[in-house]
Amino acid sequence: FEGMTINELAKRCGESTSTIQNIIINVGERADSEFGALSIDIAELVAMEVGVNVRRLHSDEDAQILPRPPVVTVMGHVDHGKTSLLDALRQTSLAAKEAGGITQHLGAFVVGMQSGAPITFLDTPGHAAFSAMRARGAAVTDVVVLVVAADDGVMPQTLEAMSHAKAANVPIVVAINKCDKPDATPERVKVQLASEGLPLEEMGGDVQVVEVSATNKSGLDQLEEALLLQAELMDLKARINGPAQAYVVEARLDKGRGPLATAIVKAGTLVCGQHVVVGCEWGRIRSIRDMARKVIPQATPAMPVEIEGLKGLPMAGDDIVVVESEERARMLSEGRRKKHEKDRLLKLEEERQKISEAEL
Ligand code: GTP
Ligand code: MG
Repeated sequence: FEGMTINELAKRCGESTSTIQNIIINVGERADSEFGALSIDIAELVAMEVGVNVRRLHSDEDAQILPRPPVVTVMGHVDHGKTSLLDALRQTSLAAKEAGGITQHLGAFVVGMQSGAPITFLDTPGHAAFSAMRARGAAVTDVVVLVVAADDGVMPQTLEAMSHAKAANVPIVVAINKCDKPDATPERVKVQLASEGLPLEEMGGDVQVVEVSATNKSGLDQLEEALLLQAELMDLKARINGPAQAYVVEARLDKGRGPLATAIVKAGTLVCGQHVVVGCEWGRIRSIRDMARKVIPQATPAMPVEIEGLKGLPMAGDDIVVVESEERARMLSEGRRKKHEKDRLLKLEEERQKISEAEL
């Protein structure tokens, strides 16, 4: 959208020039000439207002595209051992510290594999109540590790995770966990998964299956290999220079530090001090921390980081865009908020109509 004129933007959005001009005037900008070049923020804001889903375009010439680590999300039914498996992979014991042993948030961290290649992992809760978190996890990830306990087999949230991965078009690697248990029947799990339509590799499909035990730490090398192989097949790359594009995976309010957002950078570099718009919120990045809570000056693709300095609490799934000034940040977030409110009212109205139709 860089340097686009009002006229061109109208065409791209399928709207009339006057509609576009009105929106620009509404956000307090000038829109005198149909042929004047728009700044990228204004163009994006307008596109958003008319409901066009925008992905910022950057000039390709000086874009530095490099391989990036894979983002892997661990999913599965409650208590099947997702957090334990991640603990085993990074040699810590987070599962033991969780309240009631149940994951209630989306944890993110980077694990350096034995081969030296880093993988960014997202942990998700398996409890039925956290369906939205699993859906978001699937949306920001490259690969889903579907954890199925060998004794329990395929359960409701196993199937739900499968459908989220399918919906997001993300490949699955199956980890059959708890294979150390005497009543473990990994073969039965495979049959169940296949009958649910998952094309397993050993049955001629392309989904890798690894038998593991988080407790015994067995099968971890094979799981690591399977993930790196899957990542290699996908040839994951990202632009690493230029403005960052990132996604919020989790946000919380800290008493002393204010709103904190855990985010994963998709492209570009997020730099401390930048002005950002995050969903309907905005702010200036006061600090960036890695998942070990260490302050770092900037974040590159596939890195999970915690950012501080937002004015309000964003929502998981929100996108982060970098803008040039505080004024722009405020304006963009205001525009988004108005759009959000309008959508909400529209939806309410639709629901009301549905109800009254049902009553007739
Ligand atoms: P939620 O986050 O609540 O969905 O659970 P989770 O999938 O993260 O499971 P978690 O890692 O908390 O493990 C659940 C229970 O299973 C714990 O008591 C673990 O000790 C046990 N467990 C996990 N992995 C294994 C394993 O490989 N073998 C055996 N025997 N027990 C395991
Ligand atoms: Mg867990």
